Amino acid sequence: MSNPADTATTVGKINPDVLAFTEGKDPVLDLALAEVDCLGTAAHVTMLTRMAFKPTLFTPEQRNAVVAALADIIAEARRGDFSITAADQDVHLAVERRLTERLGDLGKKVHTCRSRNDQVAVDIRLHIRNELNALRIELADLAADLLALAQKHPRVPLVGRTHLQPAMPSSVAMWASAYAEMLLDDDYLLQAAAKVNNLCPLGSAAGYGVPLPIDRQLTSDLLAFDRPHHNVFYASCARGKDEAVLLSACSQVMLSLSRLAEDLILFSMPEFRYFTLPRDLCTGSSIMPQKYNPDVLELIRAKAALLIGQATAASTILKAMPGGYNRDLQDTKELYMEGLRTTRTSLRIMRLMAQNLTVNPEACRAAFAEPGVFATDRALELVASGMPFRDAYHQVRDHLEDLRGMDPDAVIAQKTHLGGTNGLDLPLLRARADTLRAEASAAQAKAAAAFAALLQPIV
Ligand code: ARG
Repeated sequence: MSNPADTATTVGKINPDVLAFTEGKDPVLDLALAEVDCLGTAAHVTMLTRMAFKPTLFTPEQRNAVVAALADIIAEARRGDFSITAADQDVHLAVERRLTERLGDLGKKVHTCRSRNDQVAVDIRLHIRNELNALRIELADLAADLLALAQKHPRVPLVGRTHLQPAMPSSVAMWASAYAEMLLDDDYLLQAAAKVNNLCPLGSAAGYGVPLPIDRQLTSDLLAFDRPHHNVFYASCARGKDEAVLLSACSQVMLSLSRLAEDLILFSMPEFRYFTLPRDLCTGSSIMPQKYNPDVLELIRAKAALLIGQATAASTILKAMPGGYNRDLQDTKELYMEGLRTTRTSLRIMRLMAQNLTVNPEACRAAFAEPGVFATDRALELVASGMPFRDAYHQVRDHLEDLRGMDPDAVIAQKTHLGGTNGLDLPLLRARADTLRAEASAAQAKAAAAFAALLQPIV
């Protein structure tokens, strides 16, 4: 390159506009990866130290010096003191620069047998693992809050709706625990995302492996992955797909939250008044003094759209991308980071709603004044006394007024079958939330223990 404005970087001179365009938001986004980048390097250098190869790449003392420097960078990053310069381009080169500044030639050796593609792939997986465990715990907590709401109002009838029209008697407990169960089932998708994520790409290097006898199982074990990706070319192709799968699972969580939000908006309208939203979670109007608006719930609806967009964008980036590393992948980074952040914030804000929602039993019961909602139950009563269903259906339809005065409490008490208004197994759902929380916490603890061990000196 002959452009006098070329900027010197670790990997050569680059036109500044090109540098700005290609690095994009990496100098900022990659700050979230600083700690895991150091851990990935610690595992890699530990493996190189253990490698049966002459000449020795790292003695244990040299490895310990590198790891000590990495531990300092981690501490700096935690304090918010670590920065990535434009010339660094990304966290990987920033860490290598810091190591070389401090350790000289030793710092220059850490990149032996690996590429940045390797590094970014492993960083993202470690970052996602950490975030996803936290997200799963937040999801379990919200499910538990909804179950507590159900438990608090075990026998309050609620008009059940189809097409938004009154359909059949339901209950507050049925409504709240349905969303808890929906979220718990969404966790199956998060579990799948976690499983696909917890595989180690390290050792893929530029995507085709290296001619030295690296121990890929060891780096995978040191970082507490379930196992390494087998085929190193596949390992490089798996980037992006991991993020797309994660976003797709998160978008399902957001869809659940969005539908819950929509119900809450509707049922807290003055015309319904089944629920009252906590005042301090509503916002006012600058002109209308009487207003308490459900902005939080409206934003959750909007954020579900954002997640669907992010999941779609990540998949679309991959769609026609050839095998191997392509820079397109860099743009999946912001998508997955934003998507995780949005999903986690939404879960936490929805917990505040679930914990502080007021249920108005008298308004819930008053909604049964319109008798049609009892029609199906009445028809099935007639069936129980021997009438064919279609005859019962017509008889009830011709005499809807006769249903006036039916007792919704009695009707919801009659549905004793599995999952009916009087057959809800809330303890079973609570046990599922507890199991999920315990699983995600154990995964977090396992990763934390592995990282702590990795940063210890070796002999
Ligand atoms: N910031 C880059 C990314 O996210 C790091 C990998 C760069 N690799 C390369 N071959 N240019 O993809």
